[in-house]
Amino acid sequence: MYAFFKNKYLPIAEAKMSILTHAFHYGTACFEGVRGNWNEDEGQVYIFRAQDHMERLINSAKVLRIKIRFTAEEMVNIAAEVVRKGNHKEDIYIRPVAYKSAEVVANMKAHLLEDDVMVFAFPLGNYLDPNKGIHCGTSSWRRIDDLSIPARAKINGSYVNSVLAKTEAVESGFEEAIMLNQDGHVSEGSGENIFIVKNGTLITPAPGDNILLGITRDSVITLAKQELGMETVERQLDRSELYQADEVFLTGTAAHLTPVSKIDHRAIADGKIGQVTQRLQALYFDVIRGKNKKYMQWCHPVYDKPSKSSAKSNGAAVSAVRASDRR
Ligand SMILES: Cc1ncc(COP(=O)(O)O)c(C=O)c1O
Repeated sequence: MYAFFKNKYLPIAEAKMSILTHAFHYGTACFEGVRGNWNEDEGQVYIFRAQDHMERLINSAKVLRIKIRFTAEEMVNIAAEVVRKGNHKEDIYIRPVAYKSAEVVANMKAHLLEDDVMVFAFPLGNYLDPNKGIHCGTSSWRRIDDLSIPARAKINGSYVNSVLAKTEAVESGFEEAIMLNQDGHVSEGSGENIFIVKNGTLITPAPGDNILLGITRDSVITLAKQELGMETVERQLDRSELYQADEVFLTGTAAHLTPVSKIDHRAIADGKIGQVTQRLQALYFDVIRGKNKKYMQWCHPVYDKPSKSSAKSNGAAVSAVRASDRR
């Protein structure tokens, strides 16, 4: 496993930072979770919506007054290079982080502190089980408000909110938490957006409900419209609407599209995975592995000239950004 760290590609074990690093003390960093999906037939890893993830990283960084010295495109190339260096031929998770690298404590002036960026990749299978319906619990922790730490920016410090909610959910016997916002409306899971299907309509909380504007959420809205002819309504959603929904599912880079069969001990409809969820999930899994030619613009190939044998044996590299040239 490799990292791009302090302008060099290194084995992860060699990528170390000081205990004085500002981001460690104050959570002054923003990150992305990106998946590279293995296509066995082609011997290829496709990074899903790589450019969109890097653009979201740059937007999150703006909030924190972090300057990223690479363009989104260059960040995509760095991510691909990290995967090639690790010679991954499997499903992987890529973690880009932009952070306040200044080795200084007791200084809250973000605009004056030094920044850096890192990227690393590691193998990751399922985060939640997408093959069965999971049991979710409504969290006693409220989703952090836009006026406190903006949820639409993926800021490291705010993930304490997710950790509290997820931990509480799992210790209470659920598989995932559903967080309400400050007004008591449904916001999202600890690391996923949420959708319901009611009377043939897809409904998901609106951007103003303190959600992260998920890239999987956007992909599912697009697939529902283009492939199933279903529009998605983005609006405030009440907790009780979840209990009465025909179908519920979660979306996220780590969680993919995970069906929910029970919430707070109440079965969703008959407790089985619904038709719309099944159809969207099948479409989504084909798309992310580069198996649906219509959506190849969302899939960034890591290895050059993919073929089962050549990609497996040498993983030939597409030219990467020489990050060291940019300083
Ligand atoms: C809090 C939160 N909501 C939603 C999502 C889903 O976003 P995406 O589909 O871009 O991974 C994530 C995962 O990144 C998340 O951490």
